Amino acid sequence: MKLIRARDYKHMSRQAANIISAQVILKPDSVLGLATGSSPIGAYQQLIKWYEKGDVDFAEVQTVNLDEYIGLDAENEQSYAYFMRNQFFDHINIDQSKTHIPDGTNLDAEAECERYDRLIHSLGGIDLQLLGLGPNGHIGFNEPDDYFPKGTHRVELTKATIHANMRFFASVNDVPRAAYTMGICDIMQAHRVVMVVSGEGKAEIVKKAFYGPVTPQVPASILQLHKDFTLVADEAALKYVTE
Ligand code: F6R
Repeated sequence: MKLIRARDYKHMSRQAANIISAQVILKPDSVLGLATGSSPIGAYQQLIKWYEKGDVDFAEVQTVNLDEYIGLDAENEQSYAYFMRNQFFDHINIDQSKTHIPDGTNLDAEAECERYDRLIHSLGGIDLQLLGLGPNGHIGFNEPDDYFPKGTHRVELTKATIHANMRFFASVNDVPRAAYTMGICDIMQAHRVVMVVSGEGKAEIVKKAFYGPVTPQVPASILQLHKDFTLVADEAALKYVTE
């Protein structure tokens, strides 16, 4: 594991954007695995700025997102498909037919999960997977459990995750109760994994996930075993890490 210490959210975002843009410059047809949530927004904004300056070109990039709520269509403002267009895709020269997100409107979970895993495989796998870290150690929507789920699957969201995601919805009752998410194997097979973590609220889980035992009770802990994992975190999130 490689650790990049950043001063604050802005610096963390810039450091992560640097790694992503280097990936795209070196391999213009990279397959990027992308995440939603508040942690990667700053990196997306930085990449948009560099695109506008002509420093990075997304024309040949393909993307696969980690997850999507079940029951929300791509036009729903709370869907991750909408988030990605709004925060990133609509502001760069990516070919939107090359951006992929699980289809939350497909209620046939088996068919949708199989389709998504086949798609990732058909793209040749993920070159760089960007991740955030859930307050309970989840990655994607892989929640604490007794085992590491392998491929894309349907999950019932835990109370902690529903609570954490409530801030994006009008009320807690509006937060969907289930989602599709890539599995741990999909994530671990990415050639490179970059995680962005910011804020004191994540300090305890950072310590537990990356300096404690590898356990499915803290899904992110498995990244300790990835051959090319970079944690980009700010000082507040690294409060309990002395390394
Ligand atoms: C988002 C995702 C989630 C988030 C995590 C952290 O696609 O898969 O695992 O990365 O919940 O969310 P934020 O960044 O909002 O703290």
